[in-house]
Amino acid sequence: MDDAIIRKIKKIVSGNFDKSFDHYQTFEERHHFFADLTLRLATAAGLEKGSNVLDIGCGNGASAEILSRELECRVLGLDLSPKMIENGRQRIKDPRVRLVVGDAVNPRAVTGDGENDFDAALYNAAIFIIPDAAKSMQAAAACLKPGGSIGFSFYPQIIADSGEELFPTAFDRCALPRPKAQVVTSYEKALEGLRQCCREVKENAWERPFSEDFLVDFFSIPAQSASLFPRLDYEERRQLVPKLFAALKPEAKKAKIVWRMAVGKV
Ligand SMILES: C[S@@+](CC[C@H](N)C(=O)[O-])C[C@H]1O[C@@H](n2cnc3c(N)ncnc32)[C@H](O)[C@@H]1O
Repeated sequence: MDDAIIRKIKKIVSGNFDKSFDHYQTFEERHHFFADLTLRLATAAGLEKGSNVLDIGCGNGASAEILSRELECRVLGLDLSPKMIENGRQRIKDPRVRLVVGDAVNPRAVTGDGENDFDAALYNAAIFIIPDAAKSMQAAAACLKPGGSIGFSFYPQIIADSGEELFPTAFDRCALPRPKAQVVTSYEKALEGLRQCCREVKENAWERPFSEDFLVDFFSIPAQSASLFPRLDYEERRQLVPKLFAALKPEAKKAKIVWRMAVGKV
């Protein structure tokens, strides 16, 4: 991907999340989802109590906050969106959590030169919107202690009992165009990037029962709805989201939502 495209994607992503912080917080208060996903990722990464963590794509701090609260981690979170960071700083008054604006591809700009005492770098629900994800993981690896971990959790899959992926079915049933790509970096590309800087890469998944209510709330966050309907403005996207997931009622009882994750050691 050339530099101009990467810059353009980052500008769009940052703008989308700048518009998302209040929806994001309302969603999290209702579902406690990003916090739970973070704890699953931390477990998969074998994160120990009191670890020093680099939280890349930290958003408004849901991931950083739970790592401090549950595992007494010190967390440095970095995120492209100034508004997400500002909201997180206003909300979280925890001396173990520090949130700063920064680009995932250059964690050194926020950690400071030569500061490579992190036990782990985690990308909770962020890697799939980072266009230069492999480069970011290389840069994160250089901030870790020997034997430190890198881990990411990914964009959701909706899987029918038959094993079929249901996003395409939902778009087709609603006669809506399928987006060219729902993610910027595919799971396979992210995994390849992780393998380039880590050994002992392990994959994992968190499977939850299908929930129309959860999916509507999740994809009504402005930045998430953009992954489904990239060409439409937010009001149009918000109206289509319930329609899209209602189309999966026939599969709902037996389908699941799958959050893949992968971890490795530097
Ligand atoms: C779905 S949110 C997840 C936030 C947080 N990890 C959590 O669990 O609540 C993804 C975040 O990644 C951030 N992000 C996307 N691309 C980024 C980049 N290149 N550098 C830093 N942050 C980025 C977005 O701004 C957004 O806040």
